[in-house]
Amino acid sequence: MALVSMKTILNEAATKGYAVGSFNVVSLDSLQGILEAATQLQSPVILSVAEVHFKYVDLEYVVPVIKQAAAQAPIPVALHLDHGVSLEAVMRCFRLGFTSLMFDGSSLPYEENVARTAEIVRVAHSVGVSVEAELGQVGGGEGASEASEADRSLFTDPEQAVDFVRRTGVDALAVAVGSVHGLYKGKPQLDFGRLEAIARGTGVPLVLHGGSGIPDEDIKRAISLGIAKINVYTEMSMQATERIRRKVADPKVISFPDLLLLARQGIKETVAEKIKVFGSNHVCDAPGVFCDSCGACVMPSGETCAASAPATNNLAAVSDAELARMVTSVVKGILALRD
Ligand code: 13P
Repeated sequence: MALVSMKTILNEAATKGYAVGSFNVVSLDSLQGILEAATQLQSPVILSVAEVHFKYVDLEYVVPVIKQAAAQAPIPVALHLDHGVSLEAVMRCFRLGFTSLMFDGSSLPYEENVARTAEIVRVAHSVGVSVEAELGQVGGGEGASEASEADRSLFTDPEQAVDFVRRTGVDALAVAVGSVHGLYKGKPQLDFGRLEAIARGTGVPLVLHGGSGIPDEDIKRAISLGIAKINVYTEMSMQATERIRRKVADPKVISFPDLLLLARQGIKETVAEKIKVFGSNHVCDAPGVFCDSCGACVMPSGETCAASAPATNNLAAVSDAELARMVTSVVKGILALRD
């Protein structure tokens, strides 16, 4: 199946009351582990590449591999830029055919976050790419060994969230409601009342970052209140590391690729557990859910949708002159903020 739009996957999840996992790809092993788990469980999946992880993977090499892997997978797969903070990263991912991106302006002053996000949404939507943004600040360091705790002063304000979604037109909103990236100091305390208020006011699928380490029951409650996408990385990374650590203690072990296989298995098992908790297992093989054509819209069994073109990013069809015009428009929008 060709890559599909994140928006369609998430709208379907929000309607049906499950969440789709967004798992970070940092290597070929992680890509294979994630896709094997999602395929076995017949779950849609979001493959995320974070801007801070660009150092681990050469995007120009790995994206064709991801597209090929998605084409072979019998499930809807979206390719997503996670925490894109620079315009360069955003434009690079447009060019490479990502079907979705997160523009993370959460550390910017509110009006600047609104203006930059709105410009990126305008450009992204013109080429069929979905956009997630963040309001409030989730914080923490994903994959880092130091634990953090959520800062309530940076939680998403429900009224501001309504204004933000209306003025930017984002397809999904990442919210700060008590989760953090990476390890938790103590037990995570999600603010369910706040989450419910944001979901009621905004009406868009909400995203929970820092999905590692949150008890399953809290995850399920968050989904019932409007979370439709859950990002997970640290637990995958820890499992892969732990499997390798157990093995390398034996000095007779010298096979590097066998260690990678162990890491892949650890990632696969972690992803499979999460998919089951998120409730997205077997939604693809339920009759009448995902059509055979676009792979992501709801159609009666065996029928295909009218707009049958796969929802891939169509930037390749945009001329260089048009692309330059779009970039200029984004840059002008940003420069206007300084006036
Ligand atoms: P964890 O690393 O805490 O699972 O968070 C992942 C994440 O939110 C990626 O954006």
